[in-house]
Amino acid sequence: MNATMGQDLEKAIDVLKSNKVVAIPTETVYGLAGNALSTESVAEIFRVKNRPSFDPLIVHVPDVTSWNKYAKNIPEKAMALANKVGPAPITYILPKKDIIPDIVTSGHPTVGLRIHNHPLTLDLLNKINFPLAAPSANPFGYVSPTTAQHVQDQLGEKIQYILDGGPCNVGVESTIIDFSGEKITVLRLGGFKVEELEELLEEKLLIKTSSSNPSAPGMLISHYSPGIPLVVGNIQELLEENKGKKISVISLVRKGENTSMISHHPLSEAADLNEAARNLFKVLRELKETSSELIIAEKFPDQGLGKAINDRLKRAAGTTF
Ligand code: TXA
Ligand code: MG
Repeated sequence: MNATMGQDLEKAIDVLKSNKVVAIPTETVYGLAGNALSTESVAEIFRVKNRPSFDPLIVHVPDVTSWNKYAKNIPEKAMALANKVGPAPITYILPKKDIIPDIVTSGHPTVGLRIHNHPLTLDLLNKINFPLAAPSANPFGYVSPTTAQHVQDQLGEKIQYILDGGPCNVGVESTIIDFSGEKITVLRLGGFKVEELEELLEEKLLIKTSSSNPSAPGMLISHYSPGIPLVVGNIQELLEENKGKKISVISLVRKGENTSMISHHPLSEAADLNEAARNLFKVLRELKETSSELIIAEKFPDQGLGKAINDRLKRAAGTTF
């Protein structure tokens, strides 16, 4: 049986109150939400996603004033940033209070708090008296969903309700910043530009998004699998090397046609990296339905959301470049 899809907040609240899970829209990707204060609800998230218990969940709150309920020793810089930017594609890693169950944080002494910017889910968060634990609403290791239908396709049989907030505006997951250590560190490149964060925080940030980083196990190489081999690099060279295969190409703008291409997916004809990020996961999903034997993606400009796009392509390829 499929999940019901709609905008019925009361229905979503009913499901959440029974310690079950609901898919929710955020401006980055859809999340699979449960009551973060209920171990039963959180266990259901791990079960539905088939997620290993060592990979901690992000906790969604409606505003910065609620941070004090769930986090302690909050650095001034984190508070100042949150006050300045408001709801945004940023997850703040902060020392956690005991009220957050260990299952949420996989035993880590820190919690990832996020104030996202989707009106429907913000409305939901303001109507309940608990925060929502919500990882991306995809089976573990797969591409994150950016529409309600994506969630339906992959998890529809396992959940009751999908809150449909339309297609996600940003399209890649939040930027994760760790404020719990001595130096502010970016653990995941995402929907909020690192350049802008550095300007706002008035310091250069450490970027530690490698797969060897044990504090962000979700950052494993070989995440975001499109189910078809994917290579990243110079398109013309890779087309030459792979002559004879059925090839699909992902690039920023349209590049010269080639007979071995069975499909070509420019992510933004206007060369806009924000638009490209918004389209990336949708295209990776569509490619799965083609008869392609190989996906060739170009390396995107290493700036703004191009950094997050390159990160996801790298993980989809399961290699470094
Ligand atoms: O945009 C997003 O962040 C979406 C929406 C739904 O909020 N969520 C999302 O969740 O991408 P997920 O579970 O797919 O990725 C969360 C990442 C994981 O890599 C996890 O390891 C990291 O956040 N994380 C969560 N809590 C952490 C903590 N306390 N310390 C370090 N990393 C943490
Ligand atoms: Mg995820």
